[in-house]
Amino acid sequence: MVETSSEPSPLPSLAVLISGRGSNMMAIAAACERGELPAHIGLVLSNRPDAKGLEHAQAKGLTTDVVDHKAFASRELFDQALHDRLCKAQPRWIVLAGFMRILTAEFVNQWEGKILNIHPSLLPKHPGLDTHRKAIESGDTEAGASVHIVTPELDAGPVIAQVRVPVLNGDTADSLGERVLAKEHQLFIDALKICLSRDPADRENVKFT
Ligand code: GRF
Repeated sequence: MVETSSEPSPLPSLAVLISGRGSNMMAIAAACERGELPAHIGLVLSNRPDAKGLEHAQAKGLTTDVVDHKAFASRELFDQALHDRLCKAQPRWIVLAGFMRILTAEFVNQWEGKILNIHPSLLPKHPGLDTHRKAIESGDTEAGASVHIVTPELDAGPVIAQVRVPVLNGDTADSLGERVLAKEHQLFIDALKICLSRDPADRENVKFT
C-alpha cells in the first residue's frame, strides 16, 4: 500500500531506496528537515515490505512505497517496475541507502549520473558484501565508507566523498561496522550537498573525482 504525504515542495526531490533499517535515510531526512540539505525526500522506496526503515519514514510523514523484488520473475522485470515508479516520482537524485539489490545496466543507464550509493569501504577497496570482515582479514589499518555515483559496474563509479576510521586491535566485523556507520550519516549528507550544488544541466560535464 502506498503511504502518501500531501505536502508539495519547491526543493529538489530525492528518492531514497532502502532494504532494511534505514538509518542513513533517516539521517538524510533529518538534514532536509533542519535545512542543512536543500532538498526534500519525495519518496522512500523499499524492495522489502518488512524493511524497518519504512515504518520510520511513515512516522516522519514521508511518502513510502514498496516494489517487492520477490513478486517479479526476473531482475529485468523488477528494474522495469522500479523505473516506472521512479518516473512517477521524478527525483533529482536517486539515493541508494542500504538498498541491497544489484541494478541492471539498463536501469542504471536510464538514470545515468543521477544515482548515488553509499558503500561501507574505502573504495576501490572491498567492493561487494562483507566489507568489514574483508578489511580486517586484509590487515587494513584504516576502514571507512564511500559515496559514489552508480555506474553499471558494481561499486565502481566515481567517488564523491569518503570517510576514514581506524581499524583497532581486536575489532570484529560488527565493532568496525558500528564505527563506520556512525560516520556514514554525515558523509552521505555532505556528498548530497556536493551533488545538489551541481547544475543538473551541467552534470555530463562535471567530473566527480
Ligand atoms: C550501510 O552500512 C551502508 O553503507 C550499506 O548498507 C548499510 C545500510 O544501513 N550500503 P542503514 O539501512 O542506512 O541503517
